[in-house]
Amino acid sequence: MASQLAIQRLKNLLRFAYLLTPSMIFGLTIHFMKISDIDKKKLVSNLFLLKATKGCWGHKIYAWDDEINDNLGWHGCSEKEELDDVVAAKIEKLMAELQRPADGHFDPVQRIVDGFINFRVNKFEKYPDYYKELANGQSPKFLVFACSDSRVSPSHILSFQPGEAFMARNIANMVPTFNPLKYAGVGAVIEYAITQLLVTNILVIGHSRCGGIKRLMSHPEDNSVPFDFIDEWVKIGLPAKAKVIANGQGGTTFEEQCEECAREAVNLSLINLQTYPYIQKALAEKNLALKGGYYDFVHGVLELWDVESHISPPIILPAP
Ligand SMILES: *[C@@H]1O[C@H](CO)[C@@H](O)[C@H](O)[C@H]1NC(C)=O
Repeated sequence: MASQLAIQRLKNLLRFAYLLTPSMIFGLTIHFMKISDIDKKKLVSNLFLLKATKGCWGHKIYAWDDEINDNLGWHGCSEKEELDDVVAAKIEKLMAELQRPADGHFDPVQRIVDGFINFRVNKFEKYPDYYKELANGQSPKFLVFACSDSRVSPSHILSFQPGEAFMARNIANMVPTFNPLKYAGVGAVIEYAITQLLVTNILVIGHSRCGGIKRLMSHPEDNSVPFDFIDEWVKIGLPAKAKVIANGQGGTTFEEQCEECAREAVNLSLINLQTYPYIQKALAEKNLALKGGYYDFVHGVLELWDVESHISPPIILPAP
């Protein structure tokens, strides 16, 4: 049985190997991830690079690390081109072992590395022109306000690719009114997105079962101990809370009130956005559209709406 360290090293090594080639290095089919679409030329040049660095072809890779060799009962660099069945079986067994999540053990570094390699292989290497262009500059069409909740990432639920959406995420996806002395983080995002990136759409998207909204709706009436920051922040949504209560939603459950408040808070943020001079200007010049959204992650449903212009139809006096 190989030691943990050896497994780790083998895992890294296989990962490297897998980055270079889908199935060739060990003469086995390595199904870590599907990478069949990788540019063949790049593959070949990487293999040559590997040969140049390691002085041998892939079939000798397992000799990089003596400890792995010892643990697997391999000794020295095999001269054979093909792996024998016993070694192949050992590798397959190890691969299966490596792919199974270790019981109760979470390795954050591994998770980050895996995530990046997945991105690098399936996106960055697959669409080189796209990323080359992005490296020269961004011109996202959207500024998105979304909640910090780990279940509602717009990149995930709306499939925004790199370069598509400038983003601000905070508790309960709130936008405060324009105030240069407060909430500079939010103001800076808006200022940059509108005046420098010239985004043409702002989307504020709320979601179901929002903890921030729940807090807004329950505190301070529940007499709970205040938080250091959260209560002050979600107070931005007080007008939405007041509206939900005033609308006579008292008959519905607390949960229903919260869902209503989440939508109402999006509308409030859309109104608050219009207190920023850059947004007023862009709206007046018809270079900007404001949109509200609500993502119900219980049912997997998205609601989307436009902000109606606040400009009322002209009144003609005296009436004709
Ligand atoms: C939010 O605004 C939209 C568009 O004006 C409106 O249709 C919707 O009823 C509003 N939602 C709430 C909960 O007020």
